[in-house]
Amino acid sequence: MKTVQDYIRTIPDFPHEGIMFRDVTTLFADPRGFRMAIDQLLHPYAGQPIDRVVGLEARGFILGGAIAHQLSVGFVPIRKKGKLPAKCIEQAYTLEYGEAIVEIHDDALKPGERVLMVDDLLATGGTAEAGIKLIERLGAQVTGCAFVIDLPELGGRAKLEALGMDVHALCAYEGH
Ligand code: PRP
Ligand code: MG
Repeated sequence: MKTVQDYIRTIPDFPHEGIMFRDVTTLFADPRGFRMAIDQLLHPYAGQPIDRVVGLEARGFILGGAIAHQLSVGFVPIRKKGKLPAKCIEQAYTLEYGEAIVEIHDDALKPGERVLMVDDLLATGGTAEAGIKLIERLGAQVTGCAFVIDLPELGGRAKLEALGMDVHALCAYEGH
């Protein structure tokens, strides 16, 4: 019986030397793998009320769309700055080199809504933390943060748990 991790391909030295890139396109492309990933991402939240799924650009859109459909709730994107057409609120976060900004439409969530936030990978947690801040600034609450891959050595899980978040990941890789 294959696991989710068995469907993930590793590309050494991408995008630069020394990085082991965890490629989820092979997971998404496989009908059994993709369904397994969606089912497992949802498993801990069975029976919990979720009003909305938020996906982080870009692979979080693929997962989040499928999860929202499964839950029969709406999907809301968080995107890199400059991509969303209507009025947004923005949040800066730190990257390995420099800063980036993500945005959400300012009317995308209602106060009190319970949100499941989804992305493919948790590394330093900077992207996810920015997403959580945007969700909470709109008055919504994060029920859970679900990822396919956790890189625990990069500290993202610890960072999100210190914020009181429920963090769920399907597999972990040691090292980068
Ligand atoms: C990757 C990954 C996560 C984020 C995790 O996205 O898909 O979104 O990095 O890193 P962090 O925990 O250190 O913030 P990336 O920013 O490369 O952009 P993309 O998803 O649009 O390709
Ligand atoms: Mg991403």
